Amino acid sequence: MNTFYLRILKPLLFNFKPDTIHAIFTAIGELAGRFSGTRWIFGMIYGYNGPDISKTVDGITYRTPIILSAGFDPDGRLTRILPELGFGGEEIGSITANTCSGNPHPQLTRLVRNKSIIVYKGLRNKGVDALIKKLSHTPRTRGFVLGVSIARTNDLSASADVNSGIKDYVDSFRKLVDSDIGDYYTINISCPNSYTGETFIEPKLLAQLLPRLREVPCKKPIYLKMSINIPWSQFSELLEIADKNKIHGVIIGNLNKNYADLKYPEDAPAKYRGGLSGKPTFELSNELIRKTREKYGTRFTIIGTGGILSPDEAMEKFKAGADLIQLISGMIFEGPGLIKKIGIRYAQTRGKMHT
Ligand SMILES: Cc1cc2nc3c(=O)[nH]c(=O)nc-3n(C[C@H](O)[C@H](O)[C@H](O)COP(=O)(O)O)c2cc1C
Repeated sequence: MNTFYLRILKPLLFNFKPDTIHAIFTAIGELAGRFSGTRWIFGMIYGYNGPDISKTVDGITYRTPIILSAGFDPDGRLTRILPELGFGGEEIGSITANTCSGNPHPQLTRLVRNKSIIVYKGLRNKGVDALIKKLSHTPRTRGFVLGVSIARTNDLSASADVNSGIKDYVDSFRKLVDSDIGDYYTINISCPNSYTGETFIEPKLLAQLLPRLREVPCKKPIYLKMSINIPWSQFSELLEIADKNKIHGVIIGNLNKNYADLKYPEDAPAKYRGGLSGKPTFELSNELIRKTREKYGTRFTIIGTGGILSPDEAMEKFKAGADLIQLISGMIFEGPGLIKKIGIRYAQTRGKMHT
């Protein structure tokens, strides 16, 4: 069935704008998730049915250690169909305190030879209230974990100064905690497409944000989504602040802003805007995962994200030190069958890895 995707469906779909295809796929996925019959069909085709590869991290059990990364399903519309594709969880969002319509189009551009997508969405989402309403009425699937990624609203309301930015994060976080929506929370401090850039990757500002978030009583794990474009000295400074503020883990990491890392930079539009997903994120993310593990041992949960396009690359992320992995681009370029393939490989090699 994945051959059907790669040989027939993908060449057809890749003729259309990625924004359009994404909207269509989300609508189909949401509809298919509503009915047990269609869920069963998707599960038969794409589901992982091998030996138990469930994994418990920070007290939460994932049916597989593979999570859909933040940004593909910002409004939580796919929570019922994704478990049928072999995922052990998804990170919904990034959501913001207010609705965001995002940046001018194109918000997504495919760079096929580079196995990368230029992402310039600018945090398009319906806002935290709509998400809470939606998820309160959606049945849950056992063993399928829902993380919620929180970003700062991408407009002047939250970008006027540091305090309004902090208030924006805290408002969303408090609402989610109070309504008991989400199994873990990610604070996205590294969106390259927000109104004022990645302010909170500045250690001084992160040191202001985290204590304010920590004032909200929350027993669930909290993770930080890290930038992969900062020097190790800055990265480890952020980790020190995370440690002091009892943050459970880090997601390493976000999009790559450096277009020189493309294998075929000539394929990128002359006037590009946005961060790169996929292949150009792979090595940078692995390197930072390795260094974090080396320096901090098991202090932080590490979720490895970026450029997983094959089972081999998934295993490299685990070997670098990831407890769990996340992906988006691999599913787009290699088809939804990739998740099951990773699950099978993980089951075969599990005993040989530290995980
Ligand atoms: C379409 C798209 C939208 C994204 N939006 C977000 C987002 O809202 N928040 C976030 O933390 N990361 C976002 N990202 C980054 C991904 O979560 C991930 O870190 C990155 O794409 C690397 O993984 P990949 O190579 O498997 O795609 C987005 C990525 C893509 C492709």
